[in-house]
Amino acid sequence: MTKKTAEKEIDVFDLQSIDGVGKATEEKLNSAGITSVLDLAAATPRELVELGIGAEKAEELCLKARLLLIESGFLDKEFVPATEVLERRKSMQKLTTGSKAFDSMLGGGIETQAITELIGEYGSGKTQICHTLCVTAQLPRDQGGLDGAAIYIDTEATFRPERIVQIAESRNLDQRKTLENIIFASVYNSSHLQLTVKELGRYIEKYKARLVIVDSIISHFRAEFIGRGTLAERQQRLNDLLHRLLRTAQVHNVAIVVTNQVQANPDQFFGDPNKPSGGHVLAHSSTYRIFIRRAANNTRLARIIDSPYHPPTAEAYFKITEKGVEDLQEK
Ligand code: GTP
Ligand code: MG
Repeated sequence: MTKKTAEKEIDVFDLQSIDGVGKATEEKLNSAGITSVLDLAAATPRELVELGIGAEKAEELCLKARLLLIESGFLDKEFVPATEVLERRKSMQKLTTGSKAFDSMLGGGIETQAITELIGEYGSGKTQICHTLCVTAQLPRDQGGLDGAAIYIDTEATFRPERIVQIAESRNLDQRKTLENIIFASVYNSSHLQLTVKELGRYIEKYKARLVIVDSIISHFRAEFIGRGTLAERQQRLNDLLHRLLRTAQVHNVAIVVTNQVQANPDQFFGDPNKPSGGHVLAHSSTYRIFIRRAANNTRLARIIDSPYHPPTAEAYFKITEKGVEDLQEK
């Protein structure tokens, strides 16, 4: 893939496009799954240091990769006038949840270039929403889809292809095609999750994915890091992971949806940034945080609890049916 501008034409898949990357460095980077300028732009200097690259050079390479993408017009500039921020948001796309009420609460749907965090208790419907999104992501743009594949990273072994079949069939979609366009990865522990996320860029390009699900972002961390002494390390690793995800969302213009379980009483939890698992780290990296809970008559309530663009009181009722996420009254 090359992108041409007045000044510069680069191959974003060729690491040697970067001044300072020779054969030896390229091999080191490749050994960690960093095979393109895009991968490098999404990497952290710390990952490079782990490969035996000096700290200073590591910083420099990550920065150069980003600058190169900016110069070539592939990535937007970091410091820009607000008019450009508006332009950038125009290239952002929105994915339908399956419910018009839910979508309009979000201002049109789940956004690309962002992380959307679904927070809720056991059984609130987070995984069901993720299943639905994998189907709606494949719809054409004029039907609220992203016209692309979905990547499903499952940490809890709750992905059900049968449920995808049911959702696709009840929406009159080809079930086989729908399944083929969901790329599934099961991850076994937090290190495995970190590795999978590092490789994500490559899979996004390979499968033309427009949506990435991580269900759940927190479970392995919670299981593995027990006790106060390990909290700092847990937060650090979660922080790296989320920044990596956010950059991946921006570089590849994909929607990233992560789930996070809370056990607290939702009303007490509401407004308390410490309650959802992950604490401040998640609160600061997720672009949108949506709280989901069960409501009366087998309905569900979604409420935006933290968003740069929405009023904090925005909420929507929806239901979970054979179609997945649906409006209370089908219009
Ligand atoms: P945890 O992962 O345990 O935190 O929960 P979750 O928020 O992911 O909950 P999940 O999405 O698994 O929701 C489970 C609920 O969804 C069930 O209690 C059912 O009410 C509903 N549900 C699950 N499968 C189906 C289905 O096939 N059809 C319908 N109509 N509802 C379903
Ligand atoms: Mg779940």
